[in-house]
Amino acid sequence: MINRDGVYNQGDQGELVRLVKETESLLALEREVNEQLRDNEKIYRSLLETSPDAIIISDINDRIIMANHQAAVIYGTENKDFLVGKNSIDFFVPEDRERARKDFGMILQNGSTKIARYSILKAESTPCQVEINTSLILGRRGRPKALVSIYRDISGHMSAQKERELASLDRFNLVGQVAAGIGHEIRNPMTTVRGLLQVLKGKKGCRHFMEYYDIMIAELDRANSIITEFLTVAVSKPADLKWTNLNNIIRLLYPRMIGEAVHSGKSITLITGQIPDLELNEKEIMQLIFNLVRNGLEAMEPGGELTIRTYSERGGVALTVKDQGKGIEPELIDKIGTPFFTTKEMGTGLGLAVCHGVAARHGAVIGVETGSAGTTFLVHFKNEGTGPC
Ligand SMILES: Nc1ncnc2c1ncn2[C@@H]1O[C@H](COP(=O)(O)OP(=O)(O)O)[C@@H](O)[C@H]1O
Ligand SMILES: [Mg+2]
Repeated sequence: MINRDGVYNQGDQGELVRLVKETESLLALEREVNEQLRDNEKIYRSLLETSPDAIIISDINDRIIMANHQAAVIYGTENKDFLVGKNSIDFFVPEDRERARKDFGMILQNGSTKIARYSILKAESTPCQVEINTSLILGRRGRPKALVSIYRDISGHMSAQKERELASLDRFNLVGQVAAGIGHEIRNPMTTVRGLLQVLKGKKGCRHFMEYYDIMIAELDRANSIITEFLTVAVSKPADLKWTNLNNIIRLLYPRMIGEAVHSGKSITLITGQIPDLELNEKEIMQLIFNLVRNGLEAMEPGGELTIRTYSERGGVALTVKDQGKGIEPELIDKIGTPFFTTKEMGTGLGLAVCHGVAARHGAVIGVETGSAGTTFLVHFKNEGTGPC
């Protein structure tokens, strides 16, 4: 060692060798650690780059620090550095910016993870639906350092779902057309058989088979009503459209609805609002309303009240049919309206399918809200504002 007077102390040679060796092994360890870190970084980078999801890391002020290749693709560019330094919020559609800012703020505050859907602006400002899973990265001393957001483009999912819906509609139209063709070929002989059964039922010698005749006639009537409902779905042209008021159609139907309700010990309340005329096929709309009303009545215990409402809404007119039944099980929601799907012993499973067919032909949309207190079916009619002068 060199002493305070700058004189080298011979006796410390052993110590010197030991120090050199120690330094060498420390340097080797540092090299190894650095290599390890480089390897780890390579692994993380390749994970980042090969991820099928877009990944964006932004600082606590929402400024983008890093983005992977897929993120660049989502924003319609090949250059991922294009995103670095920009504010991540600016890439959301204006309506979603405040919500995104709030969500990110909450994550920074609570350290929670959030998955939410937003619309972002892709290249050329085309909006795109994404699901973003955001979580917090903590820095030294546990301070929030950055947010890592994994974006998944879900606009493709939606169009795939739409495609499935359209495909099923196509199939249904085809089946409907075939049914329309053979419908009356089946119905005519059925009418003959029903008539003859009625005659036989009245004959003296057949009296003790009365019960069987009733069953046969009831079954024929059920088959007949299936065909009638099915044929309504099969009509795909909006025939006989007339400018008329939905309230008038409901009033025409009211006595029939009340008859059905009273018969089963239930009541109906009608609340008609001020609504403009619409271009409607009266017969079809009657069938739509009646099917919804019948379902509502069937869903309730005696004493239940069904409420039918009409009102003007932005861009159109709404009709709602609200019951006090037990609601629809969540797992059945997607199934109802599929032709022949029924949970009723004597159901045809065609009522809602008819409603959807009628609504589609009128450019209307049917929605449903359901819970343990009851179900509301909502029909939204568009009003293009081109009524008769
Ligand atoms: N208001 C309602 N409340 C509860 N369930 C309903 C309601 N409307 C429809 N559903 C369900 O949807 C199914 C299909 O209805 P629908 O197509 O009219 O055929 P159906 O009435 O012949 O069964 C019903 O069997 C029932 O399970
Ligand atoms: Mg029904």
